[in-house]
Order: sequence, then C-alpha cells, then structure tokens
Amino acid sequence: MPRHTRARIDLDALRSNFRRARELAPHSASMAVVKADGYGHGLEPVARVLAGETDCLTVATIGEAKRLRDGGIESAIVLLEGVHEAADWSAVSELGLHPVLHSPHQLAGSEALDAEVPVWIKCNTGMNRLGVEPRDVAAFRQRLAFRPGLRVVGLLSHYACADDLRDPMTRRQKECLQRIRRDHPDLQVSLANSAAHFHDPAPDCDWTRPGIMLYGGTPLIGTTGPALGLKPVMSLESRIIAVRDLGAGESVGYGATWVAEAPCRMGIVEIGYGDGYPRHAPSGTPVAVAGQRCKLIGRVSMDMIAVDLSQCPGAEVGAPVELWGHHVGIDEVAGMAGTISYELLTGVSPRVPRVHEGDR
Ligand SMILES: Cc1ncc(COP(=O)(O)O)c(C=O)c1O
Repeated sequence: MPRHTRARIDLDALRSNFRRARELAPHSASMAVVKADGYGHGLEPVARVLAGETDCLTVATIGEAKRLRDGGIESAIVLLEGVHEAADWSAVSELGLHPVLHSPHQLAGSEALDAEVPVWIKCNTGMNRLGVEPRDVAAFRQRLAFRPGLRVVGLLSHYACADDLRDPMTRRQKECLQRIRRDHPDLQVSLANSAAHFHDPAPDCDWTRPGIMLYGGTPLIGTTGPALGLKPVMSLESRIIAVRDLGAGESVGYGATWVAEAPCRMGIVEIGYGDGYPRHAPSGTPVAVAGQRCKLIGRVSMDMIAVDLSQCPGAEVGAPVELWGHHVGIDEVAGMAGTISYELLTGVSPRVPRVHEGDR
C-alpha cells in the first residue's frame, strides 16, 4: 500500500489570505514572505500564486532566491538577512536581489558590482537581533553612498512583540522608525509583520511583510487564524493503518504513558515526528478521524501515533485522518504542543509530499 500521509496545500486559500492582508493594510504595498520553503508549503507553487498578487517576495537566503529565479519567478526579491560574505554579492547581482543590510562588514565585495543593486537598511528599533542603531543610520547610509553599485531604497525594521496587542514595545518601535525616517524622507519604510495587520491603527508603512497570516496561522497570541478571517492553507492528512481493542489498564506506545481507564478501541495512524508531527503533542491533542474529532493517546513515535476511537467507533483501517487543517486548527495543535503554527508548518518533513490544489 502506498503511504497516504501528505500535506494538501490549498492555493486558493493562500490567495484569499493574501487579499485579506491587503484589505487590512489598504495604503501599503506588500512583500509576501515565502522564506523557509514558503513556511513549509512548497516555495515555488506558493511564490507563483503570490507573485500574481504582488510584485515583491521576501526570502531569508540566497539559496531560496535562486530557487525562485530557477522557477521562472521574475518579481523583486528582498533578501532579509542580506549577504554574509564577499562572494555573495555576485549572486545578488546575477539573481537581481534586493538585500537588507545591517552592518558595515556586509559591504566587503560590493565594490566590484557592475550593475546597481537596490538595498534596504535594517534599523534596530528594539528587537536587538540585526540592525543599525538609530543614531548610526545616517552614517551607515553615507557609507553606502560611496559604493556606486548600491542604491539605498528603504528602511526596514521588525517588531519583537506585535503578537501581543497590549505590548507597548510595538508603539515604541513604530515611533523609533518614524523618527529615523524624518532624516530620510526620500526612503520607503517597511515594518508591519502579520500581527501588525490586526493592530489599531492599521499599518501605514509603505511596505508590509505578511508571513504566517498568508498560510492561515494566527500571528496573535490567544486567538486562531479562522477567528481572524484567515483560511487554513495546509491540511496535514494521513490514515489509520491498524485498529486494536484495549482492555482497562492496558497502555499504548513508548513509555506506556497513557493507560486505558476502561475498555476502548484505538487506531494507529501512519504519521509521526519523522514527518514533522510534534513529538511534544500530549495525549488529548485533537486528531480528526473521518471528520470526527478524536484524541491522540500516548507518545508520538517517529512514524506512528495512536488515537482513541471512542468518538468514531465505525473507523476501520484506511479511515482518513486530519492532523490539522479544517477539522482541527493548526493553532490548536500548536497550543497543545507548546509551540506556534510557524514551527509546525516549517517542520513538516521532506518525507511528506506536498499536494498543491486550486488555481495556480
Ligand atoms: C524580518 C521579517 N519580516 C517579516 C516576517 C514575517 O513575520 P510573520 O510571519 O509573523 O508575519 C518575518 C518572519 O519571521 C521576518 O523575520
């Protein structure tokens, strides 16, 4: 029997989520974030759909950008972490990328550029990962001006706490970037991630950078994607490969962590942490069997999980299973496993085929 475990990707839902992002930030243009293999959904098909909606895509690495160009995608591509070594500049130039720069060390190699490269300056407004300090932005820009191959097009920063609507840091970061911008009125700014789309006021930067919301996951703590008007894009599916009756007192799986209190029927599903299903999902995590919500029982193994079939007594070998998607929300599974949808989506392993559906 061929393995049935797969991730179905609804490209129409992806498009609809992108349009929702546009509705929420009507005065901004959008760089759609497709890094990490389109948040696990398959880089090229996802990028092709989004390239039909916006003319700018965003990735983290040159390898990702190369895949986009090899796939025939001609949109502007912003390279979020910029270059790491001198040799990267030739790839940036050949692939026509727009790197984000955060440090003078990245300039080595740019003196040899023969075509003009548009660059963004990353400003540290409080995240304290990458970025030029606000007081140093003007001097950094001045340094870039001495490189004829570089043309500064914008200022970019990233929110640290926008997932919490009440966190005052978001306002402070926004004000900080606005202050920097006053000295550079000719430059565009890019700030809003997905979460900022749901803030009041709506984002008013020149360029937003929606990521997780495009894929249907919530960017805000304490809510779900569907509650924010987003559609699930990935349905992670499998099927039952064995059923078994357990007597009261019998356990299931490694460590015998789950023990039946009463006689019950359980099913084994052909998916595990080797596929990217989270090993830390506890007993009780919802799993839909033939459209009925059931519960995960026992530890997640590499290739299998067990489910209690009390809610779906008619289920037999071959019954379809949804790990997340429409019957079980990804935010719900993420919450149970103590993580976020971003990690679950990007963690679906290469062993799981992505099946793209909908209008390409
Ligand atoms: C610099 C940058 N911008 C935008 C995004 C998109 O964020 P989100 O997926 O929360 O919308 C990310 C995601 O990690 C990022 O690193």
